[in-house]
Amino acid sequence: MTDIRNLIALCREEAPYDFLGGRDIDIVYNKITSLSDILQYRSEGKLLGFVSFYTNDTSLDFSFVNMLCVAPEGRRSGIGKLLMTWCGEAAATKGFKELRLEVHTENYVARDLWKRMGFEDISDATAASKYMRKPLQTSIRAR
Ligand SMILES: CC(C)(COP(=O)(O)OP(=O)(O)OC[C@H]1O[C@@H](n2cnc3c(N)ncnc32)[C@H](O)[C@@H]1OP(=O)(O)O)[C@@H](O)C(=O)NCCC(=O)NCCS
Repeated sequence: MTDIRNLIALCREEAPYDFLGGRDIDIVYNKITSLSDILQYRSEGKLLGFVSFYTNDTSLDFSFVNMLCVAPEGRRSGIGKLLMTWCGEAAATKGFKELRLEVHTENYVARDLWKRMGFEDISDATAASKYMRKPLQTSIRAR
């Protein structure tokens, strides 16, 4: 799964703001790969995007999306939207009622996309980021 780490590093390098919120990339990567569910989008074996989200705390009503990255060469072809849709379906199938995420206030592309996908602001997470949430349609409770 080193390609996941590479993709996180790429997103961090190109972001004009602090993409990882001051966190060390290896700590983030280890947390993602050990504690999260991960859905990947690949083309001819090459990782073009992934979304990772927590479903391990079943005392919560929401699943938290901790990372979504699309490789620069895969952007603007619907992969980000598709990954978030898959993530919502997977979380709903596990019985979660909501998706939540944290987004940097200067990440205008992502904030705008999540809003158009039904997310709303909840509150400030830090001085430079916001929590957002989106209700899910839960038809099956599998947890
Ligand atoms: C945000 C991100 C996930 C979007 O992924 P993507 O695969 O390019 O998004 P999609 O192709 O599904 O885009 C859907 C729509 O969002 C909008 N959009 C996406 N990227 C855009 C951009 N750079 N500028 C303007 N609008 C954009 C468009 O309306 C687009 O639809 P269109 O291409 O038909 O016009 C991607 O840019 C990324 O990985 N960024 C770095 C990491 C990041 O910010 N992750 C999110 C953290 S919360």
